[in-house]
Amino acid sequence: METEIIVTDSLTKFYGKIRGIEDISVKIPSGGVGFLGPNAAGKTTLIRTLLGIIRPTRGSAQVLGYDIRHEINEVRDRIGYVPEFNTSFIPDTTAMSFVAFCGRMNGLSYPESKQRASDSLFYVGLGEERYRKFDTFSLGMKQKVKLAVALVHDPEIIICDEPTNGLDPSGRVQMLELIRNLQIDEGKNVILSSHLLRDVEKTTDYALVISEGEILAKGNIRELTANKRSTVSVKVKSKYNDLLEALEVNGLNVWTDGAFIEVEKTPAVEKEIFIIANRIGVDIRYLGSRSRSLEDVFVSLFKEQEVQIH
Ligand SMILES: Nc1ncnc2c1ncn2[C@@H]1O[C@H](COP(=O)(O)OP(=O)(O)OP(=O)(O)O)[C@@H](O)[C@H]1O
Ligand SMILES: [Mg+2]
Repeated sequence: METEIIVTDSLTKFYGKIRGIEDISVKIPSGGVGFLGPNAAGKTTLIRTLLGIIRPTRGSAQVLGYDIRHEINEVRDRIGYVPEFNTSFIPDTTAMSFVAFCGRMNGLSYPESKQRASDSLFYVGLGEERYRKFDTFSLGMKQKVKLAVALVHDPEIIICDEPTNGLDPSGRVQMLELIRNLQIDEGKNVILSSHLLRDVEKTTDYALVISEGEILAKGNIRELTANKRSTVSVKVKSKYNDLLEALEVNGLNVWTDGAFIEVEKTPAVEKEIFIIANRIGVDIRYLGSRSRSLEDVFVSLFKEQEVQIH
């Protein structure tokens, strides 16, 4: 069993009335984890809250045992962060001096910062170019510099927020491989935030699926996508377990999240559910597709992938 690197309890952030994330209670295992969700799901809000950049409206979280409200410096020392948008680079600076400067900001001594900057730039594949001014770098190279910055203080956790945005196919592959290798070869804990299922599948084995500020599902990506079957959701007034059992006995494929009973879609399954419920005297309050099922989210993630490919 893996250990947990991050534990959150009812973590919530509202921007005024706008929900960023709400009641997120998760245990994030060590290794590689994807934060997977469509635009505006709350991925960046969750990351920025964990980093103490945003103060939670309520709830709490610990990163490697350190509290994000009271021990944020301990937290930040242990996380390397690749932000979603371009960091402001200091103009007219070489990649080396920029990364080394960030190392100094993270508390490294001058010689350490030089050595670590060089190592990190070599690691991301910019060793040869390290003395070039990065105003002259391509977007893909700038993304790699951001990753080098995240690595410079040798953190235990590296959080990459949409690191492949704007990259061409070969740039994406390179970036995702670097992130995967950090986990596999270097033993780092890696969090990859993305709205692309394929990117997360390639990079991590475990995912949190986030939608509309909430965790919709979590677990092994293969298992999550295997469960991507079409379902009909059923809610009942009472006798929840009776209906669950009766549906199973009648050979329907059912599972439940505790509130709804999900039944695998087959032709005329709705009618069948009504007949079974009626027979055992259970009142159905709701039967249909829920507005934001795991399947809907995956469909939208796949759709966006198609748009990206062509
Ligand atoms: N500074 C802010 N002020 C007001 N609302 C915000 C702010 N930042 C985020 N939000 C809102 O919070 C919700 C979650 O946004 P967030 O940026 O966390 O999503 P995301 O999953 O990172 O999306 P994307 O894939 O587009 O980056 C959205 O409805 C967004 O409009
Ligand atoms: Mg975001």
